[in-house]
Amino acid sequence: MKQGWRDSIASRQQAAHDAGLWRTRKVLSSHQGVEIVIDGRSVINFSSNDYLGLAGHESLKLSAEKACRDFGVGSGASHLVCGHHQLHHQLELELAAFVGAERAILFSSGYMANLAMAATFLTKGDLLLQDKLNHASLLDSAKLSASHFKRYAHCDVEHAAKLLSSVEFNRCMIATDSVFSMDGDVAPLRQLQSLASDQQALLLVDDAHGFGLMGATGQGALSNQGLSPVAEVLMMGTLGKALGCYGAFVAGDALYIEHLTQFARPYMYTTALPPSVSASVLAALAVLAEEGDLLRARLNANIRYFKRAARKHAVTLRPSSTAIQVVVIGDSNQSVNISRALLNQGINLTAIRPPTVAKGAARLRVALSAAHTFGQIDQLIELLSQQLSKLAVEKNSAELNGHD
Ligand SMILES: Cc1ncc(COP(=O)(O)O)c(C=O)c1O
Repeated sequence: MKQGWRDSIASRQQAAHDAGLWRTRKVLSSHQGVEIVIDGRSVINFSSNDYLGLAGHESLKLSAEKACRDFGVGSGASHLVCGHHQLHHQLELELAAFVGAERAILFSSGYMANLAMAATFLTKGDLLLQDKLNHASLLDSAKLSASHFKRYAHCDVEHAAKLLSSVEFNRCMIATDSVFSMDGDVAPLRQLQSLASDQQALLLVDDAHGFGLMGATGQGALSNQGLSPVAEVLMMGTLGKALGCYGAFVAGDALYIEHLTQFARPYMYTTALPPSVSASVLAALAVLAEEGDLLRARLNANIRYFKRAARKHAVTLRPSSTAIQVVVIGDSNQSVNISRALLNQGINLTAIRPPTVAKGAARLRVALSAAHTFGQIDQLIELLSQQLSKLAVEKNSAELNGHD
C-alpha cells in the first residue's frame, strides 16, 4: 500500500529528530550585530556573517530610508521587464569598477546567482568541476544543468586536473568557494586559475566570504591572490555578508555578463531587489572606501586574538586565518547541547550539522566581526572551553563504562 502524505512527512521528521538534525528558529528582535536580542534575551552573537558590523550602520539605514521615501518599497518587476532601477544600474557600475571587472550584474541572492551559473553556461557534453566542500548553492546548480558533474577532493588541484583528463568534454567550468563557509579555509585560486587557463575552462569563484574583507581595499579573495575577474574568470560576490545588506552580483568580462542578462533564468524570472537595497549597498561601498581599512584591521586583530585565546585554553580549531573559525565536535546532538548551554550563558553560537556539513562532522562555527570586543571573545572562549572539557569528561566516562 502507498504511504500517505502525513505518514511519509511524519517519518522524515522523526528521522531528523532522532539523528539530532531538527532545526529550530530563534526569533531576532534587534538589529543584526554582535549584541542581539533573540527570543527576548540579550546575547552576544558569534553566528552572523555581518563581519564588519555594517548591517546596523547609520549611513546604510539612512540611505535605505531615503530611497524608500523617493522610490517606494518594491521594485515591482524583474530587471528585464521594468524593475531595473537607476540605483541598481549605478550599483552594477560601482561594483564592477570596485572589483576590477568590465561589468557586473545584480542577482536577488547569492543562492540564485550560483544556481544560474552552470545552467546558463553549460550544456550536454560540457563538464562542471567543483570542490567537494563548495556551498550548497553551487552544488545545487549542477542539478539544473545537463552537463557532466564531478567533484574534486577539497582544495586538491591535482585531483581536479586528474578528473579533467579522465573525461571527454566539450567545454568546462571549474567552480569553487573562495573562503569555505563551514571551514574558513581559502581555496588555491591561483593554481585553479592556472589549471582552468591550461584547459580553456571557465573559473567561477564564489567570494561570499571574501568580498569586502580580503584584498587591499576589500575587492575580495581573487585580488588577495593577485587575480581579478577578467577574461575567463567570473566572480560571484554576496551583499548580505560583509556589506551588511542583501543580494549578490556576478562580475566579469562583458561577454559573460551579457550572456547572464540574456539567458540566466534565476535573473530573468524573479522580481528585482528593492531599490532601497541597492541604495544601502551603495552606502556600504562608500563606508568601505572611508572606513574599510580600519574595520578590516579590527576584524583581523579579533581573528588573531581569538586564535591566541583558543590556543591558551586548548580549544582545537580547524586551520583558518579568516573570520570563520571552527570547532569540530562530530556528533550532532553534542554540538546542539553545547550551543544550547552557551545560549543559556548569554552566547549565541549556532551548531552546524549535516547536511550542511558531512555526516559525523557537526561543528560550532564562530563568525568573528570587527565589532566584537576582546572581552566578548574572552567570554566566548572561556565558556566554550568549559563546555568542551565537560564533553571530554562525559566521553571518557562513557568509554570507561563501555569497557566495564
Ligand atoms: C559560500 C556561499 N555562497 C553563497 C551563499 C548564498 O548567498 P545568499 O545568502 O546571498 O543567498 C552563501 C550564504 O550562505 C555562502 O556561504
